[in-house]
Amino acid sequence: MTSIQTSLESTFIKVFGHGKFKHFFAPGRINLIGEHTDYNGGFVFPCAITLGTYGLASLREDDKLRLYSENFKADGIRELSINDLSYKEEDGWANYVKGVLLYLQEDGYVLDKGLDILFYGNIPNGAGLSSSASIELLVGVIAQNLFQLDVTTLDLVKIGKRVENNFIGVNSGIMDQFAIGMGKKDHAIRLDTNTLVYELVPVELGDNVIVIMNTNKRRELADSKYNERFTETRQALKELQAECDIESLGELDLETFEKHQHLLSSETLVKRARHAVTENQRTIAASELLRNGDLEGFGKLMKESHLSTELDYEVTGRELDTLVHSAWEVDGVLGARMTGAGFGGCAIAIVAKDQVDQFKETVENNYLKEIGYAPSFYIAEISDGAKLA
Ligand code: GLA
Repeated sequence: MTSIQTSLESTFIKVFGHGKFKHFFAPGRINLIGEHTDYNGGFVFPCAITLGTYGLASLREDDKLRLYSENFKADGIRELSINDLSYKEEDGWANYVKGVLLYLQEDGYVLDKGLDILFYGNIPNGAGLSSSASIELLVGVIAQNLFQLDVTTLDLVKIGKRVENNFIGVNSGIMDQFAIGMGKKDHAIRLDTNTLVYELVPVELGDNVIVIMNTNKRRELADSKYNERFTETRQALKELQAECDIESLGELDLETFEKHQHLLSSETLVKRARHAVTENQRTIAASELLRNGDLEGFGKLMKESHLSTELDYEVTGRELDTLVHSAWEVDGVLGARMTGAGFGGCAIAIVAKDQVDQFKETVENNYLKEIGYAPSFYIAEISDGAKLA
């Protein structure tokens, strides 16, 4: 039992007035490479991390759904009903919980009792490390366990994605839910988002660690910009289909893309599609390099990936670029790039263990000078997927 879990136990008793619960945990995620490829039929290469969402939960005898979050104490207990799970703006974060339970019901699973659930997340707010997918998978495993549902983790992953797409309204791909559902300690997941065929690749970094760098920038308008990139790449696909027999941009190699890029109606679409194509190729190559222990080669592709998200996909922004460009200049850094959706959020760097302090100091100083406030740093530890804890 970790100290976090022990303290959550007393909170649960104080908030709900009884001590009947089970412990659950769902991680957050970082993506090593393969950004904005998952809704373009490409490969991604994420890992689950030990920062995540804790849940203590029990079944009730009535139909009440009582939800309390240590992160939103001012909200108090949100009292809802398992028989009315429709989306309501004013329910805020609880909509992620409702969405998962509703889609389980719609898929025919019987959820005929209420629940008491205490949530606590230590994923920094708005950091782009998938706190929403973490809540979705947490609720998925809670329902799976407490209602004894015959539902697979992959089904829960797909339900989480549907919640984002249809309940919340973000056109995201399946990467986050997949990483958080299927993650394995000390492994990255090489996932073909077209077929959902995946492989676990050991992340063996020797004397290096993965440092997460948080811009601490509020991710304003991130969802609408995300949906804009989704629409642009769908449009590019449609225009390329005039001559290419493809169902997603992920099916193209660079040569074929360049032969047909004249079909695209604007320079913006050329850039967006080029990112989707080249990033996919890089992800396939990079996962092989990591499997073969070629960390330098992997680091080079991280740099190329960042430049592509910066110049072609245009999802980085000044804060992420400052962090990543500063990181590239520090001794002992094998590679660095943004991770996740972008528009603020986090970047990652592979750094020699004995250089980490120097690294943080240099990057922080540059960032302070350029941006005016400090970034945060965390060492990433790679975790198992969502489960009874
Ligand atoms: C967000 C989405 C993912 C993926 C990344 C970008 O995290 O939820 O599906 O598209 O952005 O790679």
